[in-house]
Amino acid sequence: MYVSRLECPKCGATYENGKVIQLCKCGSPLLVRYDLDQIKKTFQKKDLIGRRPDLWRYRELLPIKNEGNIVCLGEGMTPLLLLKKLGKEINIPNLYMKDEGIIPTGSFKARGAAVGVSMAKELGIKVLAMPTNGNAGAAWAMYCAPAGIKAVIVMPESAPPIPRGECAIAGASLYLVKGLISDAGKIVATAVADYGWFDASTLKEPYRIEGKKTMGLEIAEQFDWALPDVILYPTGGGVGIIGIYKALLELVELGWIHDKLPRLVAVQSTGCAPIVKAWEAKKTESEFWKDAKTIAFSITVPKAIGDFLVLDAIYKTNGCAVAVEDSEILKAEELLASKEGTFVCPEGAATLSAAIQLQKSGWIKPEDRVVLLNTGSGLKYPETVQVKPTVLNPGDLLPQI
Ligand SMILES: Cc1ncc(COP(=O)(O)O)c(C=O)c1O
Ligand SMILES: [Zn+2]
Repeated sequence: MYVSRLECPKCGATYENGKVIQLCKCGSPLLVRYDLDQIKKTFQKKDLIGRRPDLWRYRELLPIKNEGNIVCLGEGMTPLLLLKKLGKEINIPNLYMKDEGIIPTGSFKARGAAVGVSMAKELGIKVLAMPTNGNAGAAWAMYCAPAGIKAVIVMPESAPPIPRGECAIAGASLYLVKGLISDAGKIVATAVADYGWFDASTLKEPYRIEGKKTMGLEIAEQFDWALPDVILYPTGGGVGIIGIYKALLELVELGWIHDKLPRLVAVQSTGCAPIVKAWEAKKTESEFWKDAKTIAFSITVPKAIGDFLVLDAIYKTNGCAVAVEDSEILKAEELLASKEGTFVCPEGAATLSAAIQLQKSGWIKPEDRVVLLNTGSGLKYPETVQVKPTVLNPGDLLPQI
């Protein structure tokens, strides 16, 4: 285990690893720092050969001390698909999609949960609570079950229904709130203060991001350490994009990749686009987005605690932030299924809409290697597809097509 310390990216304060900790005393999220010089001496690319295809193949860059605490459901090493047909049609011939739809619990939230829950187990936590838009709660509930940790999950009443079932069947205590994730967050914060539970809210503990950063490690490995030019990521709380950026910086320090990083693109919906608004105004923090509403429910985050880190990742990589209409998201979801055979979640589909927009504006060039991050399976969102098939009687004949 190579963690050297926990560090505040805002005020620079450092904390000892291995203790129960939430935010920095200044209120900022904390980041896990490793002794990369030491890792450099003992961990090489070739060591990955023959390791299991899950995210624990990067264990030197993960915070768990005792392997016995690892809760693994097989998460990680998701496919990187070349979208040949679609790429050609939209004039991005090197268009790829990293498909997190096939990971345990059907969304990339399994990565954050695997590392977050394993660390919670290592720290001896018995009860954790979190607000969620659905998928994170489902994933943490599932990983908490084998870890023997009680999970208390609060999600908006309007969240898609499938994660409710996942939380319930895993044995979590589930509550719905008539409001947004920000309202769920306030309820959790009060309970945490009252009962001393561990607060597993986005970025209020330092380890979820370590799980999510493995998407960046995998992209680098899957491209044989020659990075793509652009990565588009559907951004809510922003942990994924912050994690990918952190992973790439660590790989640069290890000398595994060169320092021309992919341009990172935060994709949001026009119905909730605080990061886009902040980026357009060249700000370093976002403002609370009022009346947030989008079909891409999981990215309905009116104000993210790590917004300054998301914006930093965009600025430092010469990336950008793009908002897309819900109608375009639904079209993109259909395009991905009908052209490429992938049924993606609306959030993942939003990255295709954004890529199309950026190609049209010339920001994405035909020679760019572009990665869409599909963060979850369309199977979790049956309500996004309206279908009314013809019902036949036995013996009916099918029309010629
Ligand atoms: C399917 C899906 N995509 C994207 C996101 C946004 O994740 P992040 O917090 O990394 O921005 C979420 C978060 O709930 C999600 O469930
Ligand atoms: Zn601080």
